[in-house]
Amino acid sequence: MEFLGGLASVAGADLPELDIRDSRAVERAVEASKPDLVINCAAFTRVDDCETTRTDAFAVNAEAPGQLAGLCARRGIGLVHISTDYVFDGKKPVGESYVESDPAAPLSAYGESKLAGEKSVLAAFPGALVLRSAWLYGASGPNFLKAILARAVRPGAGPLRVVDDQRGTPTWTARLARQIWAAASRGMSGICHASAEGACSRYELAVEFLRLMEVGVEVFACSTAEYPRPAKVPANAVLENAAIKNAGVNVMVDWRADVAEFVAGFRGRLLAEAAGRRTT
Ligand SMILES: NC(=O)c1ccc[n+]([C@@H]2O[C@H](COP(=O)([O-])OP(=O)(O)OC[C@H]3O[C@@H](n4cnc5c(N)ncnc54)[C@H](OP(=O)(O)O)[C@@H]3O)[C@@H](O)[C@H]2O)c1
Repeated sequence: MEFLGGLASVAGADLPELDIRDSRAVERAVEASKPDLVINCAAFTRVDDCETTRTDAFAVNAEAPGQLAGLCARRGIGLVHISTDYVFDGKKPVGESYVESDPAAPLSAYGESKLAGEKSVLAAFPGALVLRSAWLYGASGPNFLKAILARAVRPGAGPLRVVDDQRGTPTWTARLARQIWAAASRGMSGICHASAEGACSRYELAVEFLRLMEVGVEVFACSTAEYPRPAKVPANAVLENAAIKNAGVNVMVDWRADVAEFVAGFRGRLLAEAAGRRTT
C-alpha cells in the first residue's frame, strides 16, 4: 500500500474476533492499537435480509457506528465511516446524478439503516467523514462482477440476463482505498461521495467486464420487474463526487478504466475462482 505514505502500520479487525455492536470490545481494540484513524467498513450488507431483520440491520449499521464515532471523538481519533448510494431513492432522470446535499430518501430497510448510521456518526462526531460509495467490486470477497463471471463460466451456461434499468457508478475497492486515504489525509469531514466517474447500467457493466475477461457468452438486457426482490433498489443512484473535487483530492477515474485495470491485474485469479466455484 505505497499510497499510505506516513502511516506506520495498518491493522484490521472483523467478525468473529470483533463485533462492532460490542462497544466494550471495540473500546478495548482501540485501546490496544491506539490508531490515528479508524475506517469503519463493518456493515449488515445483505440488503434483502435487512427487510426482515431491521433490528439487526440498525444495530450494526446505525447504533454501533454511532458508538464508535463517540469513542473516536472522545479519544481524538479520526473516523471514516463508509456509506452507500442506497440512501437515495434513485428517482432522478437518467443523465442526472446525486451530490452530497441532495435529500436522502431510502427505499429499503438497508438504506434506512445506513442513513441512520450517517446521522448517528455525525451527531456523535461532527469531525468524522461519512463517505458514500457504490457498486463495489474487488479481488477479495463476493461482488456483482464475480457473480456474473461465475454464471458465465458454469457448465452449459446459456445466455445471461442482466438488468438494464439500474444505473450506478461501479467502484473498484483499490481505487476507493486511495480515495479514502486522500480525503482523510486532507482532514475532510461531513458527507462526501466517492465512486468512479461516469455511469452505466448493470447490463452495460456485465457486458464490458465479460468482454475484457474474454468470456464469450451472450448477455441480454432485462428489467428489474422481471426479477422481483424483497428490497427495492434505486434505479438511478449515480453519485457525483462534488465534495472531494471541491477539496482538490479526487482520485477517482472513469469506471471503464478501472474495470480494465482490475481485469488486467486479476483475470487469472478471477477465472480460477469462478472455475473453483463451478466444481464445488
Ligand atoms: N458492496 C457495495 O456495492 C457497497 C456499495 C456502497 C457502500 N457499501 C458499503 O461498504 C461497506 C463494506 O461493504 P461490503 O460491500 O464490502 O460488504 P461486506 O463484504 O458484507 O463487508 C461488511 C463487513 O462487515 C462485517 N460485519 C458484519 N457485521 C458485523 C459486526 N456486527 N461486527 C463487525 N463486523 C461486521 C462483515 O463480516 P462477515 O462477512 O463475517 O459478515 C463483513 O466483513 C459497508 O459499509 C457497505 O454499506 C457497499
